[in-house]
Amino acid sequence: MLRRPRRNRKNEVVRSQIRETKVEVDNLIYPLFMVDGQNHKSEVKSLPGQFRLSLDNLLSEVEECMNLGVQCFDLFPAVDDSLKDELGTYSYSKNNFYLKYISEVKKRFPEAVIMTDVAMDPYSSDGHDGIVRDGKIINDETLDVLARMSVAQAEAGADIIGPSDMMDGRVEHIRDALDDAGFSDVSIMSYTAKYASAFYGPFRDALDSAPKFGDKKTYQMDPANKQEALIEAELDYFEGADYLMVKPALCYLDVIHMLKEEYPVPIAAYNVSGEYAMLKAAAQNGWLEYDRAMTEMLLSIKRAGADVILTYFAKDFAQLQK
Ligand code: PBG
Repeated sequence: MLRRPRRNRKNEVVRSQIRETKVEVDNLIYPLFMVDGQNHKSEVKSLPGQFRLSLDNLLSEVEECMNLGVQCFDLFPAVDDSLKDELGTYSYSKNNFYLKYISEVKKRFPEAVIMTDVAMDPYSSDGHDGIVRDGKIINDETLDVLARMSVAQAEAGADIIGPSDMMDGRVEHIRDALDDAGFSDVSIMSYTAKYASAFYGPFRDALDSAPKFGDKKTYQMDPANKQEALIEAELDYFEGADYLMVKPALCYLDVIHMLKEEYPVPIAAYNVSGEYAMLKAAAQNGWLEYDRAMTEMLLSIKRAGADVILTYFAKDFAQLQK
């Protein structure tokens, strides 16, 4: 045998010398959930190790993570039901605790990069990402709500706006609104190919944001479709998105790979709540080795072509690198 591939695996020095893919803490974005109040830290039952945090606890969490090298955070608000309405007006209200938290985090940690979520579902009494009329999700009127929300978040200090709603035309609409308001430096990470997935369940528990009727299949993509992701990517790219995101990650590695090949902008992947919960549950039962399986999952997402990974594993992974 002239060619023996095992020679290149003979010890760890050789293996690490020729390793093709490495996940760095710099590539990770850590999603965090927040609630109004003080001295509040409640674990999300279906997301062991992830908490809803009041401002005091949020600030200490961010500090701890920054010390581990995690420097980018995606913040999500758990909003009290009494503040939700059909038009999601709390999303840009001056009293919105989420906006206050964003500016407090930026004040304490100016070097932290803060990503925010733009969609109506945390604020909507219908639990949908757009305005509901006669049981339908109305696209174009929703864009104005998304634009107001985006500008409010930019005013609070957001560095990256993350439209996660899958309405048509949102990236251009938000880009225009941000530029008009003087926020041409604020980036857009578009949820480009966001699938109508079963893997968002634990996230909806965290925010209590599940749709009150029906499902999200008229706006989120059909898990069976790949070609369609190219249309979404084309639109988002030409509408000015700075990053294109695929979500979820693990069941959609082919889509991540395709967008990486086709578009010269950074590709992000959202390793979603259900993907984290599956491994946590298996590890708690002793069925999988947590650290190894986590590393393998993140590696596979990076190998598929993701430059950036949004993941609930971010802190654990960073700790493991220490
Ligand atoms: C809402 C939103 C969702 C997630 C991020 N933003 C859920 C949904 O679309 O219902 C899911 C994230 C996760 O599961 O970790 N616009």
